Amino acid sequence: MLIHSALLALGATLAAAVQPLEVKGNYFVSPKTGNRFQVVGVAYQPGGSAGYNKDAGRDPLSDPDICLRDAALLQILGVNTIRVYNVNPDVNHDKCASIFNAAGMYMVLDVNSPLVGEALSSWNPWESYYAAYLNRTFAVVEAFKDYPNTLAFFSGNEVIDKPATGATVPPYMRAVTRDIKNYIKKHVTRSIPVGYSAADVRSSLFDTFNYFQCELDGDEMSKADIFALNSYSWCGDSDFHEASYDELVEGFTKSSVPIFFSEFGCNEPSPRGFSEISTIYGSEMTGAFSGGVVYEYTQEKNNYGLVNMKTDGSATLMPDFRNLQKQYAKLNFTEIQNLKPPSGPAPTAPKCSSKLIKTKGFNSNFTLPVLPPGAQDIIDKGVKPAPVGKIVKITDYKVKYTVKNADGSVITNLAVNPLPNDEINSPGSNTGSSTEELADDSTGTGTGTGTGPSPTPSKDAAVRAGAVVLPAVAMGAFAVLAGIAI
Ligand SMILES: *[C@@H]1O[C@H](CO)[C@@H](O)[C@H](O)[C@H]1NC(C)=O
Ligand SMILES: *[C@@H]1O[C@H](CO)[C@@H](O)[C@H](O)[C@H]1NC(C)=O
Ligand SMILES: *[C@@H]1O[C@H](CO)[C@@H](O)[C@H](O)[C@H]1NC(C)=O
Repeated sequence: MLIHSALLALGATLAAAVQPLEVKGNYFVSPKTGNRFQVVGVAYQPGGSAGYNKDAGRDPLSDPDICLRDAALLQILGVNTIRVYNVNPDVNHDKCASIFNAAGMYMVLDVNSPLVGEALSSWNPWESYYAAYLNRTFAVVEAFKDYPNTLAFFSGNEVIDKPATGATVPPYMRAVTRDIKNYIKKHVTRSIPVGYSAADVRSSLFDTFNYFQCELDGDEMSKADIFALNSYSWCGDSDFHEASYDELVEGFTKSSVPIFFSEFGCNEPSPRGFSEISTIYGSEMTGAFSGGVVYEYTQEKNNYGLVNMKTDGSATLMPDFRNLQKQYAKLNFTEIQNLKPPSGPAPTAPKCSSKLIKTKGFNSNFTLPVLPPGAQDIIDKGVKPAPVGKIVKITDYKVKYTVKNADGSVITNLAVNPLPNDEINSPGSNTGSSTEELADDSTGTGTGTGTGPSPTPSKDAAVRAGAVVLPAVAMGAFAVLAGIAI
């Protein structure tokens, strides 16, 4: 008895841990409860692509004081996942990973960066597929594999973004997915899922999806474990049909892998009312989808921010923060996070075949490139030296920086509320001093007529989505790469 409570006490001083999740068929599932998990996420890349600075040894998860501030705010917001686009495998992430873990939040990590040699390029992908690139990619796996809250890796983000890249990229992207999965199989004790984050260019979305999810004879390792899309087709006060979410549900309903939005949150009109939240977590969507990631945490030039962050570490909430918080607060997450997967067998993937591909010009060749010279050796022996991450004890959860509400009032007593073991964050776990603000916020809901162009109704979502591929691209590898190439 005594020993038992001593152990419990010891456990309590170490940060409590979220439960590593598994993929079962087309859902994320908690192995402990058997319940499905819905991603309630925010894209987290403070400083935009400049937040990743290799020479300065800086990335979004390298500064514990900043992570603490943001984990506290994201707890108040009610989310359970962050997506981080650019990480440096060689900097220490232990404190940030442990803070987000204690806050009940998972991390979805893109393995790429904006720098040349650190991403598969969307033009001439064969020129960027070499051993040093894969080594760097595997190093990201090494750096994050031992955190229980590492949810998934993205092998690529919007690398296929137009017809020309749909013609060339797919076999390379599928090959990189294969290589990361082979590395994980050999060097990681749990099977952290690997998948692709697609641009919601509706005309080729389902070709992209089928290319990555299909069953390839003799090469089961190249099949994506998850598939996600960056989708901006819901603008303003839309609905399931007008935003063409119905098309998405129809297209993904027999998916063999979990599907979620890796970005959403059209910013016209602005401020945003986030009326899509109740639909994304409602019965029309949750059969096919496992939630989504709101784009994005910090305010950058492209105007998608929830929080305005200053270089001195202070921050001010944007109206969108409270609007989104209110939408989450309306939902019953006890219900949403306790959905049971159906008892029958999960949908099976179609066989890879050129017949699967419907768009003219989209790659339908499933002969994947072989590993580049030197890469098999890295997979066999492991990255050397391998970065090592581990959960560490956080002694002080109080936020050191000043954070203000949109009206200028200071949020007092801001701190991360470390959650008990196995608990994921949900609205209400950390109220901060936010309750009053929630009640009398008068910044408007952002629905109805905005100042931006009014959302084009109905079925041209692909066109609109195509037009808003940019925010993600600016975050991802291609802005910088393109800048260099031009
Ligand atoms: C592989 O990655 C590790 C970790 O980032 C790095 O230290 C090492 O120099 C890399 N090796 C090669 C051959 O690029
Ligand atoms: C939320 O859902 C749970 C499970 O269905 C239910 O027991 C609970 O009463 C609901 N809470 C509210 C506030 O409706
Ligand atoms: C498919 O790709 C492989 C590898 O690049 C190539 O050798 C083969 O000729 C291609 N097949 C067709 C039908 O284009």
